Amino acid sequence: MALKQITRHDFLRLMGIGGGALFLSACVPDYLKGSAIPTTGAQAAGPGFFGAPEVEIALKAVKGEMQILPGKATKVWRYLAEVLNGPAESLKVIPDSYLGPIFNLKKGQTVRVHFTNELREESIVHWHGLHVPVEEDGHPRLAIKPGETYVYDFTVLDRAGTYWYHPHPHGRTGPQAYYGLAGLFMVTDEEEIAPDLPSGDYDLPLVIQDRLFDGDNQLVYGGRGMMDQMMGFLGNRVLVNGLPDFTLPVATRPYRLRLLNGSNSRIYKLGWDDGTSLTVIATDGGLLEKPIQKDYVTLAPAQRVELWVDFSERPVGEQLRLVNLPSAAPDSGVLFPIMTVRVEREESASIQLPDRLSTHNLRDEADAVNRRSPREFSLAMGMGMGWTINGRTFEMTATARDEVVKLGDLEVWQFNNQAGSGRGMMGGGMALPHPMHVHGLQYQVIERKISSVGRSAWDTLSDGFVDEGWHDTVLVMPGEQVKVLLKFEDFTGLYLYHCHNLEHEDMGMMRNYLVKA
Ligand code: C2O
Ligand code: CU
Repeated sequence: MALKQITRHDFLRLMGIGGGALFLSACVPDYLKGSAIPTTGAQAAGPGFFGAPEVEIALKAVKGEMQILPGKATKVWRYLAEVLNGPAESLKVIPDSYLGPIFNLKKGQTVRVHFTNELREESIVHWHGLHVPVEEDGHPRLAIKPGETYVYDFTVLDRAGTYWYHPHPHGRTGPQAYYGLAGLFMVTDEEEIAPDLPSGDYDLPLVIQDRLFDGDNQLVYGGRGMMDQMMGFLGNRVLVNGLPDFTLPVATRPYRLRLLNGSNSRIYKLGWDDGTSLTVIATDGGLLEKPIQKDYVTLAPAQRVELWVDFSERPVGEQLRLVNLPSAAPDSGVLFPIMTVRVEREESASIQLPDRLSTHNLRDEADAVNRRSPREFSLAMGMGMGWTINGRTFEMTATARDEVVKLGDLEVWQFNNQAGSGRGMMGGGMALPHPMHVHGLQYQVIERKISSVGRSAWDTLSDGFVDEGWHDTVLVMPGEQVKVLLKFEDFTGLYLYHCHNLEHEDMGMMRNYLVKA
């Protein structure tokens, strides 16, 4: 490593490695050899790699302005980035959007990101969905002050998929993401290249976010005080890729649409307004084994879904709307548009929807170390505490005894969302949906059970759950028990699990779990 590249963070990391990580190289998994070494134990330094990374990026969080609505520009916070070393296509800017540039990386690539905080408050970046060492995961304890730089070094270990990045300072994730700090992180690999999927201009990201503007075109956040915190922020306007009234011009051919629900708390029930079904090809953790058909798709905050959409039977000039269908999700009683698709030109493409998209090495619940008694997490409103997990709220570096897991173990986790008063999900204000996210890995959703109390609300969304495939965030409805199967691989240390309703998270509906060797 050249001297000029050694920053304070690298220095600390090197100290940590010097402190005893090297002797672990005997148990380095094959795919890590030569590029990274695993950590030694709780909170040890992350694995650097030796020599220059294949991709080196400078990323900063800044305040700026964007033209979003007609008239006055809107003050936003944004990520700006630049490729310092490596292929220029490692970053792709979404034009006219406050969203951060899309990271475009290949599985196996070594990456260094120099993140500089140019805000007037602390921040840190989390790579949502990626399997990275604890030091690279953007835990709030690693938040940096204004003017500081944090250097991330990691190898892209995940399979091809649509991941994303956003801030994670404790108590401020909601507002920072809301004002515009978020971006996609796409990974490609050999397996994905195999099925003939639409690519290039026909492979499009669509980040869905709700926002609230004042009469001066400025973003409003937290105006309802306690109500916003309890419910989560809900806007009155949907933006797609940072733009209002989004229209997508398409040709008469198949497309791959990658949807991220980048909203703070809004849950969408997505469908086409003419009743056409949706063909889902991927989830949070990449391609499904085979495409599945859905009348609608339920997309909770932080979740991704990818669609194969074929416009080849549609005449030029036709318009189609992607809408939010009415459901029992908060503030979702009516249909409203998400975006309009306009068929603009003839174009033929000879690609067909593949029968097989990928192969999953799915795990078997029978192999879980705790298959007989899953680790349970009760999600509830705590008296005077706001939302809690097993009666607790966030503590920066603490873990309870029941939050320690063993490296290499396969476990069943069961999230139990309390049913509330029985007057529907708003009844008594005590039960809400919670999209539960676990850092550092992708899991399988293996079972759902709904109580009779929660049933009617659940029925309005449950056909849209895509539980197949790999996930990092799962929606747990009031009265529901959801089991997931997860494995703690490669890295030890302190990771997070939390509700991805960002207001719930900021209030403390978040805990650490500790992976021990
Ligand atoms: Cu996308 Cu801990 O978050
Ligand atoms: Cu929640």
